[in-house]
Amino acid sequence: MAVEANGLFGRPTPRIDGVAKVTGAARYASDEPMVNPAFAYLVTSAIARGRIEALGLARAQAVPGVLDILTNTNVGGQAKPPLGGDGGPTTTTLETDRIWHDGQIIAVVVADTYEAAREAANKVEVRYLPEPASATFGSAGVDVRPHRSRGPEPEKGDAAAAFAAAPVTVEGQYRTPAQHHNPIELFTTTCVWDGPALTIYEPSQFMWGLKTSVAEQLGLDPANVRTVSRYVGGAFGSKGGTTSRTVWIAIAARRLGRPVKLVPTRDQGFTIATYRAETRQRVRLGATRDGRLTSFSHEGWEVTSRPSAYNVAGVEATARMYACPNIATAVHVVHADRNTPGFMRAPAEQPYMFGLESAMDELAHALDMDPIELRRVNDTRTDPLSGLPFSSRSLMQCFDSAAMKFGWSGRSARPGSMRDGEWLVGYGCAAACYPTNIAPAAARLSVTPDGKATIGMAGHEIGTGAYTTVALTVAHSLGLKIEDVTVQLGDSDLPPVTVAGGSNNAATTTHVAVKACEEVRRRIAEAAVKDEDSPFHGADPATLGLSERMLTGPGNRTEPLDRAVGRTGGRLEVYAENVPTGMPATAMAELYKGQVTFARGGGRKDVAAYAFGAHFVEVRVHGRTREVRVPRVVSAFAAGTIINPLTAYSQYMGGVIWGLSSALHEATEIDTRSARYTNDNLADYMIAVNADVPSVEIIMVPEHDDRVNPLGVKGIGEIGIVGVNAAVANAVFHATGQRLRELPVRLEKLLS
Ligand code: MOS
Repeated sequence: MAVEANGLFGRPTPRIDGVAKVTGAARYASDEPMVNPAFAYLVTSAIARGRIEALGLARAQAVPGVLDILTNTNVGGQAKPPLGGDGGPTTTTLETDRIWHDGQIIAVVVADTYEAAREAANKVEVRYLPEPASATFGSAGVDVRPHRSRGPEPEKGDAAAAFAAAPVTVEGQYRTPAQHHNPIELFTTTCVWDGPALTIYEPSQFMWGLKTSVAEQLGLDPANVRTVSRYVGGAFGSKGGTTSRTVWIAIAARRLGRPVKLVPTRDQGFTIATYRAETRQRVRLGATRDGRLTSFSHEGWEVTSRPSAYNVAGVEATARMYACPNIATAVHVVHADRNTPGFMRAPAEQPYMFGLESAMDELAHALDMDPIELRRVNDTRTDPLSGLPFSSRSLMQCFDSAAMKFGWSGRSARPGSMRDGEWLVGYGCAAACYPTNIAPAAARLSVTPDGKATIGMAGHEIGTGAYTTVALTVAHSLGLKIEDVTVQLGDSDLPPVTVAGGSNNAATTTHVAVKACEEVRRRIAEAAVKDEDSPFHGADPATLGLSERMLTGPGNRTEPLDRAVGRTGGRLEVYAENVPTGMPATAMAELYKGQVTFARGGGRKDVAAYAFGAHFVEVRVHGRTREVRVPRVVSAFAAGTIINPLTAYSQYMGGVIWGLSSALHEATEIDTRSARYTNDNLADYMIAVNADVPSVEIIMVPEHDDRVNPLGVKGIGEIGIVGVNAAVANAVFHATGQRLRELPVRLEKLLS
């Protein structure tokens, strides 16, 4: 498999679905027209722990238009609970009278209209048997356990002894808050039955995962379940797993014999879907006087629900960032009466790199050393844990190019020493990293004699530009124009692609697309060399290529594509699978069963594969009010081959903006007495607005990596956000001399 880095690959290309999106033609799941639909509205729990003693339904049933009310007493036991994000148990909804968390679904009201369903839902009377609920860290009744799900903790040497012996040490305790994704598109579900066949329209990052999970929960043959989600209006991890809300809508539709559509509210999205759990961390660094790390310890605590062991264990990433002979890590899960958390963009790296990159800044200060030079002294060509070489690692190129553009050399090192009128000015930086993932995938590709290609795979357009990267790949590989390529994604009737998560999507979909294209080229070439009327008769088929709608070959011979395709029977259709190097042959069968099977580093066992980056942030803290502003950010990333620089730039920029929002504003507040969220709406859950984001510049550092996978694609979906939080806090320290180890950075924390 070889694609030259010329042609369409790497050319900035507008989204092929851009016009459809801005004109409203793009059909999102809940836009799907239905014949005679009924509407569902959820009733959710007002307590965080206990039991439902009784549900009074009479007033609700009296609302005109109400058709059905699902509760644990009439549908409990009709579905198996789904598995949580880590494949383990998760909180459940209508199965029993048990309440696991605030906002749990306890009834589904179905009516002829949305309004009637909502009115009736508000008239459902619930009598609870409440029990004392444990909210979060420090609450009575939480259950703290070591995490077990991800194998042994990264460890090397004797970190404690090296820390005790180190001439320079820093130690910090860091806290990151619970946060919610709040994608613009709500967590909708529409279900339609046709005899035994169920079709589900639901925004999803994993069509085949949703299909097989619902089949499993309802005891259906997966062949009878189809999932459709051609566009996803934001997900960020929140639509990657399956929660049990989908099956209750399917059951409601089956009971009624009518399509049922659920559009939950914004506030319900805080508890019926997943979120980023709050963490606490302790980082200890020991170093020589010239800044070389001798000891690194990173311990984390993460909140989860009662039954689930879900955790993100970001120490896997932080322990690989810098050369260090002595490493100790540990992660603990804290079970509380909460909904089960799940993936949220850069699930592991986003919170844990806050701890590491803040501590690195503290160490640079303790050493009186430039923070960039501290990273340079500890840069490494090999993974400190495994000893494997990085397939490529351009961390310092990212630091250097962003520092230059930012004007880092104009920084005066002493905290509090830069001022502009009433504003204290601070410069801060931090590293970003994200592991490279790739997954098996399958695709179907057809080419017609008029030179049009159609590729279909059950991939996912979650806003990243997936339609366009696949179209670019096919156009490039078949020598077509991008207008000649139609891309079909988001339908489980298409061959499977794994979850669009872990930044695997670009690598996964382009590799299988190239494989399908290569098969098309091979068939065209083989037919041509056998045909006496072809200019390539008798040639070696391997020497024939496709370029500018021509079949091309030795001696500058060409033949129009329509003739070449026509010879294969008129319409050429191929099915291709790609199992990344090093993955077991069973991976494709597992994908067809809806299992998530990733390969890190392209599956190779001889390299460690990560993308790296660096953020530079200027903050201004008002001398009296302590208002914090971020006038500018410069971030550089190196992530191998960039397929479409236009959408890549947007993707990076979006990550950085979310990083700023996360650092300065975002926190889901939990009432510790009731274990309920208090700001579960977009008025009270603070996010960055345009005025918070004046200038974000992105540098794409060229990086050629022919070891990570054949196309050298590392993936960029998550890295943009990683480390922004630390860069902001480090800049605030530089501006004020105040070290904030707890996010978000807010002015009230700077008043003391
Ligand atoms: Mo990403 S949080 O793996 O969707």
